[in-house]
Formats: sequence, C-alpha cells, structure tokens
Amino acid sequence: MSTAPTSIGAIAAGPGRTVYIETYGCQMNVSDSELILGVLADRGYAAVAEPSRADVILLNTCAIRENAETRVARRVGQLISERRSTRRVRIGLAGCMAQHHRDRLLERIPGLDFVVGPDGYRRLADLLEADEPAIAVQLDRRETYADILPMRERGVRAWVTIMRGCDRFCTFCVVPFVRGRERSLPPDVLGEELVRVASEGFREVVLLGQTVNSYRHGETGFGELLRMACDVQGIERVRFTSPHPADFDDATIAALGECPKLGAYIHLPLQSGSDSVLESMQRGHTLDEYRRLVARLRAAVPSLALSTDIIVGYPGETDDDFEATSRVMDDIGFDHAFLFKYSPREGTRSFRLEETVDETAKGERLERLIAEQQARSLRINRQMIGRTTEVLVESSPKKQPDWLSGKNAQFKTVAFEPAGPTGARHGELASVLVEAATSQTLSGREIGRA
Ligand code: 5AD
Ligand code: SF4
Repeated sequence: MSTAPTSIGAIAAGPGRTVYIETYGCQMNVSDSELILGVLADRGYAAVAEPSRADVILLNTCAIRENAETRVARRVGQLISERRSTRRVRIGLAGCMAQHHRDRLLERIPGLDFVVGPDGYRRLADLLEADEPAIAVQLDRRETYADILPMRERGVRAWVTIMRGCDRFCTFCVVPFVRGRERSLPPDVLGEELVRVASEGFREVVLLGQTVNSYRHGETGFGELLRMACDVQGIERVRFTSPHPADFDDATIAALGECPKLGAYIHLPLQSGSDSVLESMQRGHTLDEYRRLVARLRAAVPSLALSTDIIVGYPGETDDDFEATSRVMDDIGFDHAFLFKYSPREGTRSFRLEETVDETAKGERLERLIAEQQARSLRINRQMIGRTTEVLVESSPKKQPDWLSGKNAQFKTVAFEPAGPTGARHGELASVLVEAATSQTLSGREIGRA
C-alpha cells in the first residue's frame, strides 16, 4: 500500500535500448512494471538501475489519491528538466495516473514523450519508436497479458497477478475507471507460472488482484487456485492481496484452514467502522458482516494477523461515525492499518458529493487513528516476546549487516541473530525466539532451522 517508488535492478543492456522504471503505488504496479520489462525485453530493451544511463525513463504511476499524482508530476518535471540534449531520451508515464488523465498529460507536461495506460503495454515499444509524443490509453476488457513473461527481480518473494481490473465501483475509488473491468487469468497459465517461479528460486508467492478473491475462470474459483498454488513444490508460502470482504466463499475459507503453506495474514480493507458510511461508500457489506467474516477467518486460522485500510473524512462522516471506526479497530484488534485521508477523485461517484470534513479535521482524525494503531500494534507485537516464530529469510537489516531478517507467517518483519554456520540462509525457514518488539518489527535469535 506504500507509494514509495521502487526501482528494478540492472540486467545486460543493448545499445540505445535501456529502460529505467520507477514504480509508484500498490503491488499491482510492482507486478505491472515486471510485465512492462517483459514486453520490452521482447523488443530488445533491457533494464538499468539509474535514470542517467537510460534511453527510456518510465514512471509507473498511481491515481488513488491526489498526493500520489502530485508527487509523480513533480518527479517527471524534474526528470524532463534534467534531460540532456546530447542523446535521445524518451520520458513517459504508465499506469493508473496515465489512464486517469490521458491526453491531458501531454498538454500539461511539456517534454513528455509517451502516455500508456494499464491495458496498453503491448503497444509500448511502438510508442517508443514514434517521432511525435504518443499515447495508448484504450482499456481492453480481455487483456490479461497471459502470454507475457514478466521480468522479475530475483529474490525470495514473487508477485503473480491472477486477475486484473475491478467491477465493484466503491464510490470513492478511481480503480474501476483506470484499470477497467474485472478479468481472471486462466488457471493453466497460472499453474505454469507458479512452477516457473519456484524453479527460479522464489520461495513465497503473493497472488495479486484488485479484488483478488473474486478470481474465477470457468470452473476454477479462488479457493481452488489457492490449493493449486500450495501444491507447487519448492514454494513454502502462499499469500494474496487484496481480498474484498464480500468475496470470501466457503471454498476459500476451507483452503485457509487446511493448507499450512497459506500465510497466517490477511489484508482486509474495512474503510469505515460506521454502517452508514459503509453504505454511502457502497462497499457491499455491513459492519456486522465484516465482523462475522473476521470470526470465521480466525476460527479457520487461529494465529491469523489482520491489517486493514481506513479512510477518514469521507463526505458525511460525523464525529460519531469516526468514533465508531476507532472503536471497531480496537475491537477487532488489527495488527496493522493503512490509514488515509479521503481524497476526491474526478470521475468517481463521491466526487460529486460535498466535502463535509475539512482538512484540519481530517488531519486530526488521521493522527488519532495513527497513534491508536501504533499503540495497538506494539501491544500485539509484544505478546510475541518469549515465543518462537518461523521466518522465511530474505535479507539482512541495513543497520545490522551480520543479522538476518525476513517475514514470519503473520507477515511481520523479524530481524534476528543467526545461529552461525548451521543456521538458515536466504530462502530458508529459520526458527526464531522473539526477544523484543516494536510497533513495526520483532527481533530475537535463531534457535534452529524450522
Ligand atoms: N481517498 C482516500 N483513500 C482512498 N483509497 C482508495 N480511494 C481513495 C480515495 N479517493 C484507499 C482505500 C483503498 C486503498 C488502496 O486506498 O482505503 O482500500
Ligand atoms: Fe477500489 Fe472498491 Fe475496487 Fe477496491 S473494491 S479497487 S476500493 S472500487
């Protein structure tokens, strides 16, 4: 849910055909950047890790809130102004913000060379060869890129997109407009992809989709797909993001309870703890339904960690509505929460609603939820002290290069002192005795291989 840019590492480059990508927004965009590199690799392009070495600079953008767009507008302006005229460097925007503003971007940002939306990536290489600024923003309800091999950065965790688009049209959200209608990839294609990522050394897969648990292709639903992913040899953990609360079916909950490889963590957006706000947002469920779902998920997976998304200051949100959100977050006991101020998005249904919560009040509500969540996360994480947890090792903490770190089943970051030569290495599971906790991380020492 972060909007921090991520860049994709370097591979061998051909002359005149190097590309640098900066990715903003959600994990779908991280996965799409890998897809874009896959599309461009077929046309002889290779990734570089710095914009100064690139023939093509592409920002893969987010449109979810206004500040995500402001940041990209500033960054692309900076890249264009730094461009030297000694060789041809094409600079462009891809993804949700590109789709949201389309040709207006070429008018507003002088020097921009191309604009490509989430369904236009097959045309990207052609756009790059055009003499004039070029654009591909046609949405295509069948495009799944099922035949494109993404160029993944090596590591422990692989992102695998299983469905694209969204049909829910929550009133505040621009996603259905910029990513188009929902479509799922065929299970046989996904099966091959999962075997490939396992053979490439990835040990964890995260199945991705805007409403990932509404996956359906023919007879195959999300529950079956989860079981299929868990059956792939070499994959130790299977996760998914983001599910919609109204899309959990019995088959999915049964799979969660029965497949030990499924991580004990679900990101379950709630948005508001008030029924009237949920209804106004057209989320498709009540608070009580959400609570009952949480109870079923926890019954299936007793060690389940939960995170959520909350929007404060939605039009019409009263003090009482806000207090209800604060209370519900405490009742449910979320391990983590992504908290946002409502941002009106052109084209959405709530854009036409009058804003009733001013910036100051939004800021105060946000700050309060942040403080409450921090205390709650700390309290929950401290309960782990003295217990053992299984960590899939992925890196070393920056400040402690002789330690190791990774995520446990609950998707918490755990840093630990390794057991030495007999201990787990990158891509292996370590048993760690937790000795300390903050609101963000656990730490301890390895007591053996898991
Ligand atoms: N304003 C604020 N937050 C938003 N989100 C989506 N649209 C908006 C908006 N207009 C949040 C929701 C969603 C998350 C990805 O971003 O909480 O779950
Ligand atoms: Fe946006 Fe709602 Fe779709 Fe999520 S389910 S992407 S919030 S419209």
